[in-house]
Amino acid sequence: MPSLVINGNKRLTGKVEVDGAKNSVLPLLAATILCNGKSVLHNCPILSDVDISLKILEGLGCVCKREGHTITVDSSGVFDCCIPETLMRQMRSSIVFLGAIVSRCSIAKLSTPGGCELGPRPIDLHLSALRQMGLEIKEDFGILDCKVKDRLHSADINLSMPSVGATENIILAAVNAEGLTVIRNAAREPEIVDLANFLKKCGAKISGAGTGVIEITGVSQLKPCEHSVIPDRIAAATYLSAAAITGGDILVENVDNEHIISIINCLEQSGCRINQYNNSVRITAPERIYRIEKINTLVYPGFPTDAGPPMMAAATVADGTSMFIENIFDNRYKFVDEIKRLGAKIKVAGRVAVVEGVKYLTGAAVEATDLRGGAALVLAGLAAHGTTTVGNIWHIDRGYECIENKLCGLGAEISRIV
Ligand code: EPZ
Repeated sequence: MPSLVINGNKRLTGKVEVDGAKNSVLPLLAATILCNGKSVLHNCPILSDVDISLKILEGLGCVCKREGHTITVDSSGVFDCCIPETLMRQMRSSIVFLGAIVSRCSIAKLSTPGGCELGPRPIDLHLSALRQMGLEIKEDFGILDCKVKDRLHSADINLSMPSVGATENIILAAVNAEGLTVIRNAAREPEIVDLANFLKKCGAKISGAGTGVIEITGVSQLKPCEHSVIPDRIAAATYLSAAAITGGDILVENVDNEHIISIINCLEQSGCRINQYNNSVRITAPERIYRIEKINTLVYPGFPTDAGPPMMAAATVADGTSMFIENIFDNRYKFVDEIKRLGAKIKVAGRVAVVEGVKYLTGAAVEATDLRGGAALVLAGLAAHGTTTVGNIWHIDRGYECIENKLCGLGAEISRIV
């Protein structure tokens, strides 16, 4: 099985460029279904989750072409409305295709995505919102059989929690639905704004993206457009944490500093010096960071749950004891047992993780348990004395493009063994 081998205890220096955001390119690819013609997306990261999305689009009849970080999707030939179970199971966020498929085809058939490493990933908010918009959904034996009587119609939707995926699904269903759809308690993540900006370029009428109330007035037809995906704020947080854990000094390029304010605040609290420029940020870490008193993961603009594991890796060698409180996913701490094999001292009680900083970690063989937990293990290996082997790196390849190349560019001794 492919793994990453890291000879640790090396200070990272130099510069690294962040790729386009995985959590933006996935809904953007779904949105191309609505634009009858050739849409062009630039700054698309080369990730296995993106590959799965392209397979879903091709299964629907789209013609997809990737040239480096540019993806072209011609959706003029959409003829199918089903997503095979195998693809749904490989990527639970495929549910975000539902809104776009029913908006284009008025029917859709897909399996419920099921849970993932982070715990149960319910879709009740997605389904109840789409039902309010006139979608009939039969849920039998894990299959969602969906059809629209005549046309999706507007609705005033109040989300019980600001779900990112549900907000995206509603927007994708509403852009062609008759009338004014209002989403209250909408997710405010930058990826929502990016999706809205793409759809507005295609002719959609959307206001309020990035706030808690989003209004969408349905239009009859969207035209294809060209768009560049926003930078990946979680990847940026990961590379910044890599500097923090190795006492490094790195320049992270292609970032939107607005999107990482909560992460920067945290790193400054730990004693790192931060200089922010137009679309880059420089971090100069002390040899040993201070403990991070408390990190509460919250919806945007709070500290993002996905940045928790990389930051926790840094906290394992901090001077003092740090506390993390995970408020989004049940199994976010799945990776903790693995990082403890490197000598980390972490106590987990429900949503709380108390991290007692140790002087240094020691290399060991570990297995990635999920995407961000896997990244945390890599970061711990960068700091650990000796050699660390990280297995199950397919988790990491879902969300980081060639993480080993990027880290080698910063002076890490890391290689992929296939
Ligand atoms: C998106 O997942 C991201 N994924 C996640 O990133 C991210 O952690 C999450 O938003 C929170 O920011 C993509 O964008 C592809 P949610 P999503 O719906 O949309 C509950 C990564 O590592 N919920 O905002 O699934 C749910 O159980 C991934 O890149 C319901 O109860 O997140 C969770 O507790 C991991 N019912 C909370 O809401 C629903 O119908 C947040 O989920 C939907 C969600």
